[in-house]
Amino acid sequence: MADNACIKLASKAIGRPSLENFRFEVGEQPTPSEGEALIRVDWISIDPFMVTRIKSRANYEAGVEVGEVMHAYAVGEVIQSNRPDRKVGDAVIGYFGMQSFALDGQNSQSRVIDPSLGSPRLALTLLGMVGLTAYFGLLDIGKPVAGETVLVSAGAGAVGSIVAAIAKLKGCRAVAVVGSDEKTDHCVSSLGYDAAVNRKDPAFPEKLAKACPEGVDIFFDNTGGPIYDEAMKVMNIGGRIIGCGRIAGAHLEDPSQDIGPRDTDAFIVKRLMKKGLLVMDYADRFSEGLADLARWHAEGRISVREDILEGIENAPEGLMRLLSGQNVGKQLVHVEHPQ
Ligand SMILES: NC(=O)c1ccc[n+]([C@@H]2O[C@H](COP(=O)([O-])OP(=O)(O)OC[C@H]3O[C@@H](n4cnc5c(N)ncnc54)[C@H](OP(=O)(O)O)[C@@H]3O)[C@@H](O)[C@H]2O)c1
Repeated sequence: MADNACIKLASKAIGRPSLENFRFEVGEQPTPSEGEALIRVDWISIDPFMVTRIKSRANYEAGVEVGEVMHAYAVGEVIQSNRPDRKVGDAVIGYFGMQSFALDGQNSQSRVIDPSLGSPRLALTLLGMVGLTAYFGLLDIGKPVAGETVLVSAGAGAVGSIVAAIAKLKGCRAVAVVGSDEKTDHCVSSLGYDAAVNRKDPAFPEKLAKACPEGVDIFFDNTGGPIYDEAMKVMNIGGRIIGCGRIAGAHLEDPSQDIGPRDTDAFIVKRLMKKGLLVMDYADRFSEGLADLARWHAEGRISVREDILEGIENAPEGLMRLLSGQNVGKQLVHVEHPQ
């Protein structure tokens, strides 16, 4: 029987998470009971929501307790099954955690992946929460019209790069905000953006205005913080803001510390609309979104950029990469299994 390597929470994060908040352990492979399947985990998704799950303050989902296997979505293969709806060889996605083997029971929010849609790990990127967040946020809240300008913060990331691809499909102008000059080049040369601005450039406000000469109609906000404050200045009358993420302030112990310039004036004068997005609210429409995303992918109109770290022991490093903006595209961890 193979060992079960895992990442456990060593301590709650106070302020910005660090590698010290995690520890690597090797234990025994679990044994499935009646109604459970055993999953060999192959791919682990690293997501910004992990920051709020490891703090003392609860978010909208339960947090991770010290000593518990770190929560994570993952894709793997059924290698043993006592579940009538799982057969050996099925590819599945679920909330399996940062571990090399997991039990797939009633609480793992799992589903079998349709093998006709391509690589199973697309369920962690385009054909899963990431793609659906971009899809419903942009189309349902943003309601893009051809010719409009769509501004995307964390524009080179997992969600942001798919927002850009859909915006271009809808005939919009897409502008990214990212954290380095290398990423601005990548956004324009590889991700289809019309322009990109480095948020760390001292001339960021002026460069943002220059990159959006006709203003911004839709702001897909993945970060909050100072980027949000600057975006408010370039919004057009009737602009729509998708409140998708707040990674810029996710490390704060108290959300009320996340104070920026008050934007009341811009909201009224520009008649702006802002709506918060929780992708799970669209659960009853996921099949609609997945069908479009899968078709666009099959037609070659949307490609997926992955940023892969090898080895489960490096999974905490994956989270550090998201927080320092080192990732380009979806941060995944590949779990190696000896043959
Ligand atoms: N509402 C929902 O239902 C939902 C679902 C999924 C994801 N989300 C949110 O969507 C956002 C993007 O998620 P993702 O998985 O696609 O992550 P991602 O964009 O692939 O990675 C996070 C990116 O955030 C940027 N970043 C990190 N720290 C920052 C800071 N202090 N200020 C500004 N930018 C910073 C970095 O890019 P740069 O350095 O290039 O700026 C980093 O690459 C996250 O906020 C996440 O929580 C929301």
